[in-house]
Amino acid sequence: MRPSIDPGPIVIVGAGGFGRECLDIVEALNDHGAALEFVGFVDDGGGDDELLQRRHTVCLGPTTSAPHGARFVIAIGDGAVRDRIARQFADRDLQAAVLIHPQATLGSDCRIGAGTILNAGARVTTNITLGRHVQLHANSTVGHDATLADFVSVFPGATISGSVTLGEGVTVGTGANVLPGVRVGRYAFVGAGAVVTGDVEPGATVVGVPATALPGTA
Ligand SMILES: CC(C)(COP(=O)(O)OP(=O)(O)OC[C@H]1O[C@@H](n2cnc3c(N)ncnc32)[C@H](O)[C@@H]1OP(=O)(O)O)[C@@H](O)C(=O)NCCC(=O)NCCS
Repeated sequence: MRPSIDPGPIVIVGAGGFGRECLDIVEALNDHGAALEFVGFVDDGGGDDELLQRRHTVCLGPTTSAPHGARFVIAIGDGAVRDRIARQFADRDLQAAVLIHPQATLGSDCRIGAGTILNAGARVTTNITLGRHVQLHANSTVGHDATLADFVSVFPGATISGSVTLGEGVTVGTGANVLPGVRVGRYAFVGAGAVVTGDVEPGATVVGVPATALPGTA
C-alpha cells in the first residue's frame, strides 16, 4: 500500500545528480496529483549553478539553511553522511518526507521509514521493511520478506533477493545481486556487479562473482 503524500513545502538535501533525480520524483508526483512545493536544494558544497538553472531552481545554501516548515529528503548516497544530517535535522525539529516515484511499485504488507526514497522502476514486493532514509535507486528490486535497516543504499539495477537482511548503512553497488537469505553486516559495501552468496561481515567491502572481501576490509 502506497503511503499518501502530504502536501506542502519540501527541500532536497544534496544538489548533485541524485538530488536532481529526486526533483524529478517531486515533479512526477505533482503530475500525478500531489501538491508538493519544491523550495530548493541545500548543500554544504553548493551546487552546479548551470545545471540547477536548467531546472529553474537554486541551491539555497548550506544544510543549516534548510527552512523550518519544509519537510526534507537527503539525496546523498553515503549512508553515514545521511545519518549525520538526519540527526542534525532532527535536533532542529525538521520532518523527513517519503518520496516514491509513481513508476516505482510497492507490494503488500510493507513498512517504510521516514526519509526513504524509491526512484523510478524500483520494485518492492511483499512483507518488506525499509528503515529510515533508505534509498532504492532506479530499477533496483527488493524481494519478499527482506529487511533493509536505516541508511541503506541500493544503487541502480541491484537485486536484493527474498529474506535478505541488510544492516544499517549498507551500500549495494550498481547491478549487484544479493542471494536469498543472506545477511550483510552494518556499513558493509557490496561492489558493483557482485554476486553475494554468503553473509558479509560488518564494514567489509566485497566484490566479484562470487563476492569476496577486499583485503583489509573484513
Ligand atoms: C567496490 C568499490 C567500493 C571499491 O572501491 P575502492 O575501495 O576505491 O577500490 P579500488 O578501486 O581501489 O579497487 C580495489 C580492487 O578491487 C577491484 N574492484 C573494485 N571494484 C570492483 C568491482 N565492483 N568488481 C570487481 N572488482 C572490483 C579493483 O579492480 C582493484 O583490484 P586490484 O587490487 O586487483 O587492482 C567500488 O569499486 C564499487 O564497486 N563501487 C560501487 C559504485 C556504484 O555502484 N556506484 C553507483 C552510483 S549511482
